[in-house]
Amino acid sequence: MSLFWFGNYDLLIFDRIDSTNDEAIRLVKSGVRGDVVIIAREQTKGKGSKGRYWHSISGNLHVSILLEAHDSLLRLQEMPFLVGLAIHDAIKEQAELSGRSSIDIKLKWPNDVLVEGKKIAGILLESVVISGKLFVVVGIGVNTHFIPKIDGVEATSLLNEGIILRHADDFLSIIMTKFHQYYVNWQADKDFNRLRTEWLAKAYNLGNKVSITDGKNTLTGIYKGIDSNGAFCLELEDGKICDFVAGDISFIQN
Ligand code: BTN
Repeated sequence: MSLFWFGNYDLLIFDRIDSTNDEAIRLVKSGVRGDVVIIAREQTKGKGSKGRYWHSISGNLHVSILLEAHDSLLRLQEMPFLVGLAIHDAIKEQAELSGRSSIDIKLKWPNDVLVEGKKIAGILLESVVISGKLFVVVGIGVNTHFIPKIDGVEATSLLNEGIILRHADDFLSIIMTKFHQYYVNWQADKDFNRLRTEWLAKAYNLGNKVSITDGKNTLTGIYKGIDSNGAFCLELEDGKICDFVAGDISFIQN
């Protein structure tokens, strides 16, 4: 295995585990402090966003990064955007190496990465406070080789899009390099604006008519962007702008 990004991160590799995010939380509770990267070839209880199941096929990438957060919980809301950008850039780099430089890679609010309009990766952030210290777990699932069946979601894999990888671990190395760069810059920057601008340049459906639902009510309008807290901004027909907080709603393309 060639994990040359290793740097300050400790690495734990499991053949099979319930969930790498759950393992990260167990580690913190048992006294381990960041920065740890946990990989599992297979997850038996992979967790998706909004309590959904993440179908974890052996051969795809399932990883959690455990970090001691030096920022407030409020600022952690910004993290899915930098993680999304890191995954975007990693796919772009590998696509170029595979001769697929014109591939369409987009970031779908709040936590998805799409290739050619189909879901290829998802991000699940969790936080935990132990002895007054805040820890964050960045869970990332990437369909590197296989396409899981997700109800109501069109999915793809890197391989299916002609992006060639020997092993999911090779892709982890690229993601970690990108993630680390974004993370260090974001910690130094203290300003979400630059990250927000970069993220919006890659946003899926920006400026288009979209519908948003909380499971009960659906609102339709124009996707105007994200606000200074990362909330989704929808312009309704009467010109009113509604802000939706990340994680509370699902996003449906019209
Ligand atoms: C989503 O619903 O899009 C988020 C999916 C996140 C899946 C990853 S796989 C590694 C980590 N461990 C988990 O149990 N979930 C995340």
